[in-house]
Parts: sequence; structure tokens; C-alpha cells
Amino acid sequence: MKKSWIQHVRGETPRQARVGVVGKMHEELFGRQGFTGPAAMLYHQDSPNELIRIEGNLAVRSALTTEFPTEDSIDARADFTPLASNQDLQVGLSRRTENMPYAYRNTDGDLLYFVHRGEGIFATEFGPIYYEPGDYVLLPKGVTFRHMPRTKDGVFYVTESVEPIRFSEHEQVGRHAPFDPTLITVPDVEKYNWPEQDEWELRIKHSGEYSSAFYPNNPMDVIGWKGDLFPLKINIRDIIPISSDRIHLAPSSWATFETDKMMVVTFLPQIAVADLTAEELPSNHRNIDCDETVFIHDHPMLDGGIFSHAPQGLLHGPSDAIRKMFNAMRKPNARRQLTAVSVDAYAPLKPSEALIEHIKEKPSQGIGL
Ligand SMILES: [Fe+2]
Repeated sequence: MKKSWIQHVRGETPRQARVGVVGKMHEELFGRQGFTGPAAMLYHQDSPNELIRIEGNLAVRSALTTEFPTEDSIDARADFTPLASNQDLQVGLSRRTENMPYAYRNTDGDLLYFVHRGEGIFATEFGPIYYEPGDYVLLPKGVTFRHMPRTKDGVFYVTESVEPIRFSEHEQVGRHAPFDPTLITVPDVEKYNWPEQDEWELRIKHSGEYSSAFYPNNPMDVIGWKGDLFPLKINIRDIIPISSDRIHLAPSSWATFETDKMMVVTFLPQIAVADLTAEELPSNHRNIDCDETVFIHDHPMLDGGIFSHAPQGLLHGPSDAIRKMFNAMRKPNARRQLTAVSVDAYAPLKPSEALIEHIKEKPSQGIGL
């Protein structure tokens, strides 16, 4: 996207956006295409993000996924449970405890699993992918696999995307940041030694419906492969975030995967903004053209496994009280401690019935980053 350099300044503003604002005024980011399109910083005397109430359906919704009763946690034949979706993608939750009792093939989109908890194997026709917490496992549309958890505590944040999911390019920082591409793990063929059986079930998802095809030979029994289409994984410990100690960068700096319809951002511990007059916390922002979802993987003060959906239009970011508390405790050379995965969709996301029902039973505080 070409940037516009036609910019204007009116009224009272800091010399540089984000810097010199703490304790003086309240900054709000009004931008298109999430954080990457045309934008204006708006300056308020009073915090613009002190919500009294909402009339209507628009809301920041959040749920603790470690308490979320997914279908696949009680039925090995079930799929992941959607949390929010649009025509381009859905984000959902798997808490699978038992092996898939079939080989599975999803023709509705690429699948990106983020492993919050649990260990096991995605047994693919290309070979096994052994997973652990912090792994992103990318299973291209149509690949045949069986998810075989080794532990019962698994929590998986799943994105299904109609468009192929690719790694985000960060061209200006070279080929070895934010991670060394040789740390991407690609499976190798391995003999699975499945027990003998008369017929093999291949369960296929097509247009949201499931069918099973049965074969006399194991559809996973590949003895070799070559090409440029295959499943893979990378662990977030191997991602070194692009950072600055003078300005809070927009989260798109930490995009790990993307399509033309969404971006997957990895929030990782990193150096905080050292200039105490510059904002360290996220802007108040209304993220126009971008519905954000956040999945908290780890934080010293928040529960791991919190999922949150912040729809575009509604301002979010820390409240004035949280900003005041944070700034009173703030010290130079601090480090950020949040680890989270954010799937930012460019078309509005509709919360699923399962999410809405769960929040009715277990309401939790909406958060947004
Ligand atoms: Fe946000």
C-alpha cells in the first residue's frame, strides 16, 4: 500500500505522535486497514475510553478458553468449536483429548493451530509433526492428517482460512529477523505402524459439512514426497520480535502469518519503551477495517487461555485507571511480559453461538490490545 505524505496538524498535539503525551493528554489512534492504512492521532483532554454502557450487540467479548466446553473434548469424532467467523476465516478452539479415529482432510481452508497447552503429534501424510506449547502448526488446505494428542490438557487456538496462509514478509529487516527461516520444521516420512484394518476412514470437511470415504489402503501411507506444498511448524520461542525502546510499535510489526484477508500477530516479551513520556501501553484505538481477536498464551497477571474479540468501531485499549496505575509503577529498562497470538480479520467477525452462550454462563472482563 502506498502511504500518503499529505498530513496536517490542527490544534494541540505533541511534536511526535506517541511521545511526550503521558500525563498531558489522551491519545487515540483513528486508522484504516488496522494499523497499516491512513491514520490520524486524535488528542483528548479526557480519556475517550471510559465506557458506561452499550445498547446493541457490539461488544468486546472475552472468555477463558481453558474452561470452554468444546465438542472435541468429549467426542473424538468432533471438530474444533468456532469462536468467531466471517466469509474469509474462522477462529476457534480445540481441546481434543483423544486421537482422531479417522484420517482427516479439510477442504474449506488452511488450518493454523497454535498450541497453548499440551503435547502430541499431528500425524500427516508428509510425516509426523511433534508439537509442544508455543508451536504454530500450519496444515495446508486438503492435507491429510490425524491429530493425536499425547496429553489430556491440550488447548489449541485454531484458525481456518479460505485463502492460503503465508509467512509475513518483513523485507526491510533482512532474511534472519524476526526469525531464522531454517528453524521452520518440515516433517519427514516415518513409518507409522498403524494396526492392520480392513478399511480406512477418511473424513472430509467440504463446505462446512462432513463426509467419510472408506478405502482398503491407508490414505496416510506415503513413502516419499517432494515439492513446495507441505505442513510445517515453528515455535514462538524462535521468533525474535522487532522492537524499539523509543516508541510503541504497531502490532503489525509482529505479524508472523498473513493472507490478503487477515494477519496473525505474535506478541512476545521484549524491551519496553524507555522514554517515560512516551506511551508504552497500546493506543486507544478503534481499528477500522480490522476485527481483532487476541489469545493470551502467557502473562504474569492474566490467565493464560483468555480469548478476546474486539470488533472494529468500538474503542479499546487500557482504561484511564489502568494507564494511571501502570504509569505510576513504570520504570526505565522494564520488559514487556505478554505472550499472545492475535488474529486480525479485515472483514467483521461474528461471534459464534457457542461463545455467546459461554459468556452468558461465565462472563469475564473484556480486554483488547
Ligand atoms: Fe487492538
